[in-house]
Amino acid sequence: MFIKRLRLVNFKNYRKIDITFKSNVVSLIGRNGMGKTNLLDAIYYLSFTKSAINSSDQQNINHGEDFFSIIGTLNKESKNYKVQCSYQNGLKKVFHVDDCPYEKLSDHIGEFPAVLISPNDTDLVREWSDLRRKFFDTLLCQIDKEYFQCLVKYNHYLKQRNSLLKLFAERKNQDRELIEKYDLELVISGSVIWEKRRDYLAAYLPYFESYYRKLAGKEVAQIAYQSDYAKGDFYENFKKHYARDLATQRTGFGIHRDDFEFLLAGKPLKKIGSQGQQKSFVIALRLGQYAMICNEKKFKPILLLDDIFDKLDDERIKSLSKILNEDSLGQIFITDARMERTQELVKEIEAEVEIFEVVKDGVHKIS
Ligand SMILES: Nc1ncnc2c1ncn2[C@@H]1O[C@H](COP(=O)(O)OP(=O)(O)OP(=O)(O)O)[C@@H](O)[C@H]1O
Ligand SMILES: [Mg+2]
Repeated sequence: MFIKRLRLVNFKNYRKIDITFKSNVVSLIGRNGMGKTNLLDAIYYLSFTKSAINSSDQQNINHGEDFFSIIGTLNKESKNYKVQCSYQNGLKKVFHVDDCPYEKLSDHIGEFPAVLISPNDTDLVREWSDLRRKFFDTLLCQIDKEYFQCLVKYNHYLKQRNSLLKLFAERKNQDRELIEKYDLELVISGSVIWEKRRDYLAAYLPYFESYYRKLAGKEVAQIAYQSDYAKGDFYENFKKHYARDLATQRTGFGIHRDDFEFLLAGKPLKKIGSQGQQKSFVIALRLGQYAMICNEKKFKPILLLDDIFDKLDDERIKSLSKILNEDSLGQIFITDARMERTQELVKEIEAEVEIFEVVKDGVHKIS
């Protein structure tokens, strides 16, 4: 996939810009706070229908205005598409491809895939399991529509079951039969999700492990999938947990409690990994995501690298530029606040590179 042109109106700090991209490697340099990440976020919007940073569409409107629009000309498998996202205060967000609106925004997910490697990614290592589930969900939803549908169903029934548990506690009476209907729904959609998480992880691991090795040499990185569903007998387990669920008013068994444990040399990365090791791990996670999407879709997503060099030593930066060079990636956007570092990197990259400077009043091509 290739972005040929990007037009923004009132998106974050940009009032109006219109940029044309000609190269596979696009480097965006500029001082802190000038809008480099915001530009990547606009591209992320075109892929995911939302921001990677701020979940409120309204806060992505340029201060003092009442709408924003993002228009990209994207080339996918030799065909051009005009992808447009518009949001006006108080109205529903609208998404058009070639001027046709979607009925459901979710239909767009996976159509124009992108992978963002962001400085916040190390939260994946440090924070709670929900972020790690979200990482794998985002990947699987982009490549498997059935997975997406089961996840929506599962979350819906889980919410309903939890509300029922609350209601039972408030009213001090219960309807066991009704709960069991929800249990059944959670077993049906949950087992599809569990199987797919397990199988896709097995397919994903070789990509991830190979990228980690390329970045970090001999260190062994692993991911272990942990799920209540591995205990088997799902329906019986929901029943077994019922008394506790009633007391806590929450469902204490199910795939919403799954975790993916990140390990370095067999030990928890969160506890033993240095900042650079954690950063290398999440870069390999994202590059693995990229490779998996390529393999499933048979075309290359857009790769967005935000401040990727921070915390990496010179050797790992070199390994990373080697990956960017060797692995015939598609179009890549790289942001950096340091001009010299970008110039060093550009020297290593064989593909044609365009450099843009992001300054207060917009984006200018400098080479
Ligand atoms: N809705 C908005 N309206 C106007 N400006 C905004 C809006 N949202 C964010 N900004 C501005 O965008 C700027 C941040 O831009 P961004 O994060 O893209 O910078 P950056 O170039 O990536 O900086 P760094 O090098 O520090 O990562 C901030 O100064 C912020 O005030
Ligand atoms: Mg930034």
